[in-house]
Amino acid sequence: MRERLDKVLAHLGLGSRKEIARLARAGMIAIDGQIIRDVSHKFDPSASRIEIDGEHVIYQTYFHLLLNKPAGYVTSTKDHDGAPITELIPEEHYRDDWMPVGRLDKDTEGLLLLTTDGMLAHRLTHPRWKVAKRYYAELEEPASQEDINAFAAGMELQDEKLQPAELEICQDQRKVELVIREGRYHQVKRMFEARGNRVLYLKRVKFGPLELGSLGTGEAKELSAAEALALYTEVGLKADIPDELN
Ligand code: URA
Repeated sequence: MRERLDKVLAHLGLGSRKEIARLARAGMIAIDGQIIRDVSHKFDPSASRIEIDGEHVIYQTYFHLLLNKPAGYVTSTKDHDGAPITELIPEEHYRDDWMPVGRLDKDTEGLLLLTTDGMLAHRLTHPRWKVAKRYYAELEEPASQEDINAFAAGMELQDEKLQPAELEICQDQRKVELVIREGRYHQVKRMFEARGNRVLYLKRVKFGPLELGSLGTGEAKELSAAEALALYTEVGLKADIPDELN
């Protein structure tokens, strides 16, 4: 599809339309080797080579960012009870169309995915796709085999029937890992509360095929092409990933 130069470059996060107009006037933008000074110039970004100041810019329809959320930050921008996670997004990844995929409580740490693809976000959070979320938790009381059985059977929480969940207990039985396949409000904390226990510390360590790896607390990184592909495949969507990133 043919689109205006300024719209395409703004979508890629290369600056405001004003800034892009300035770059164009300065002769710094080339499309398929031709300097373009007119920002209303229309072209097909997915079939063209875009260069800014001689540097090749890869065109992407959607963007995905992995965040290792620290405690104290709120996922929703409407919640004013803490700093919003958007404050953690490095300047080079700044966009105004990031959507968080699901939520983590203010005191929960760990893997939070942000995307600009609404369909991907919808499927990843829809119970139908049963995307596995793995949490590490520290508990007030030791966990037991009965907890494993209760979670595996699919608990009932205030009339909500939960999907079976897998609980693994560490040598120190107050430390556990739990895999759930839906994302209800305060789900992990409520599951342990229903067992007469309490979560003291919670961190999401895996989301579908995505892992935090070496990403430090408070850090963010764009998904690799392989990670994005795995994510789209997980929920039965065809990934729109530029050849250059594969
Ligand atoms: N379950 C919770 O209780 N809190 C979270 O932040 C995520 C899952």
